[in-house]
Amino acid sequence: MKIIHTIKDLQMELLPFRSGGKKIGLVPTMGALHHGHASLVNRSVSDNDITVVSIFVNPTQFNDKSDLEKYPRTFDSDSRLLEACGATYAFVPAVLEMYPEPDTRHFDFAPLDTVMEGQFRPGHFNGVCQIVSKLFDAVKPTRAYFGEKDFQQLAIIREMVRRMNLSLEIVGCPIVREEDGLALSSRNARLSVRERDNALMISKTLFESRAFAKTHTVMETVLFVQDSIHNAPGLRLEYFELVDGDTLQPISQWSDTEYAVGCITVFCGEVRLIDNIKY
Ligand code: PAF
Repeated sequence: MKIIHTIKDLQMELLPFRSGGKKIGLVPTMGALHHGHASLVNRSVSDNDITVVSIFVNPTQFNDKSDLEKYPRTFDSDSRLLEACGATYAFVPAVLEMYPEPDTRHFDFAPLDTVMEGQFRPGHFNGVCQIVSKLFDAVKPTRAYFGEKDFQQLAIIREMVRRMNLSLEIVGCPIVREEDGLALSSRNARLSVRERDNALMISKTLFESRAFAKTHTVMETVLFVQDSIHNAPGLRLEYFELVDGDTLQPISQWSDTEYAVGCITVFCGEVRLIDNIKY
């Protein structure tokens, strides 16, 4: 695997592949890679001729500066994981390479980006769209891979691609969980042993709510999840919403959609964790 730092070098490398009609997979990441990322890279390696994995902690998507500072940076183990998965290139640009000047573009995908994370992390999705559109432009991939754990992000990126008429395929990959149910996240590294134990109630509640939902209304299911998290030690619920998986708008009855998704954000100590489940 080759490590590349500039867009110019990356494009020089990719040129022969592109002109040879080869399929290029892109996996955008912020590093601190885990098995969830590995599943995206593995999928890209099997679908495409070459795979570019970007590692860039994107400052414009952090509305909380201390979150940006505390974001784990683990380049050595990241590059070992990428080698093992068979990635062709790691693209690791500096901030000035991606933002030689401030990005003043404003993306508005309302109402997709105004609910849930959009409400609690103002500007977050604007920053995500800024960096992802720059990466798409630099790599011009055939396909790009994103995890379903960031369910809202995936929906917004699909919408961006549709509205900008970009000719690439967005591939969503299922959440990867630890054996005990905890959704893999780079932020899990910041949990103490006790906090990690507390965090298990998040996925446990979501799985239980899926069984509960079979015989209860949408409102009862929302209350079930809220109560369960409120009563769990060490957790603070930010939101739980039952939404249509395409529009991300809240549903009020099960018949409102064929594709209901429950999206949750919970603080476990200082660490903000997200998860979701399909009903
Ligand atoms: O999901 C992430 O890790 C980031 O939001 C992404 C897509 C790499 C953009 O910085």
